[in-house]
Amino acid sequence: MTTEKKIAEVVGLDVGTSRIVGAVKCGSEDAIVDSQLNAFVSLPHTKLTGQSLEREGIPHHVSGDQIVVFGNESARMADLLGREIRRPMTRGMLNSQEAESHQQIEAIIRAVLGEYTASETKVCFSVPAPPLGGEDGLTYHEATLRQILEQLGYKDIRSVNEGVAVIYSELEESNFTGIGVSCGGGLCNVAVAYMSVPVVTFSVAKGGDFIDSGAASVTGELVNRVRILKEESFHFNGHFSDKVQQALTVYYDDMISAIVQGLRDSFGTSKSVPKFGRALPLVLSGGGVLPEGFRDRFEKALKTVSLPVQISEVRLARQPLEATARGALMAALSE
Ligand SMILES: Nc1ncnc2c1ncn2[C@@H]1O[C@H](COP(=O)(O)OP(=O)(O)OP(=O)(O)O)[C@@H](O)[C@H]1O
Ligand SMILES: [Mg+2]
Repeated sequence: MTTEKKIAEVVGLDVGTSRIVGAVKCGSEDAIVDSQLNAFVSLPHTKLTGQSLEREGIPHHVSGDQIVVFGNESARMADLLGREIRRPMTRGMLNSQEAESHQQIEAIIRAVLGEYTASETKVCFSVPAPPLGGEDGLTYHEATLRQILEQLGYKDIRSVNEGVAVIYSELEESNFTGIGVSCGGGLCNVAVAYMSVPVVTFSVAKGGDFIDSGAASVTGELVNRVRILKEESFHFNGHFSDKVQQALTVYYDDMISAIVQGLRDSFGTSKSVPKFGRALPLVLSGGGVLPEGFRDRFEKALKTVSLPVQISEVRLARQPLEATARGALMAALSE
């Protein structure tokens, strides 16, 4: 019996600072979502290490006298070896300080998509909005990602703004009218759309990495340690017998307040904000929204600013870690 390998016609790709997520669509079946950590670590190359990694099926490749382990396993490997992971992206864009960023990101994308795609697969990848008040490295980031995807053999490549992708994935019931927020590792991306047309998009240069390094610096803990504690046990409204929890709350509040103020300011300055004539739903996605109590905290912060539109509800995305990739897939399917 031969099992035919399925090749996707369309994929949505979320190229995030923290993780690369692919939403793959083959025929009429539901999308398959797969992800890898956007990180790598290099080890000295020995035949034995190579064979062990091969046997365990751990994504890696040989580069000179080094073996590079990339994706999900890189974090554990780095932890075992007492090293920091290296990251191809920082603050939502390619990391110019990391010489190997292009090569490694290409390998990670191949690990996420390779099995399901061929050169005729249509790819739509996410790009962040320019940071509020920051300089614009976005043109370079987007053009380089496009080159990397071309290098991988894809021919039909397009991009979608991350906040808009969240709206595509989560706000169908409101006819793609509303506010999409993605709280990621590097950035928080925000988009406001009216019937799927973006009217405001921006990003805030504060995300999970900012929270982790802030809390690490005031507690004297390692950044990676803080990140693990945050992901495993942090929640809002706790009692702060624990210094790390207390510091995490401070930096989380700072991030939330930057998003809410960003919304107020961009509504204030944008000439193109239509008279919506209805209250807008706001949907929260990205790994940063996962701690218990986040939604309530965000809603409370939102009530402290006055916006020129009413908010009908604040809710979490159905799958916060998948919303951008699923939205990018929707964008590709709708073209
Ligand atoms: N269970 C969890 N609780 C709290 N935080 C979490 C949890 N899981 C992941 N995170 C945090 O979410 C962030 C990553 O989110 P996400 O995968 O959405 O980012 P990204 O899309 O890769 O980054 P960006 O969009 O900024 O480029 C990290 O800061 C990570 O520590
Ligand atoms: Mg993201």
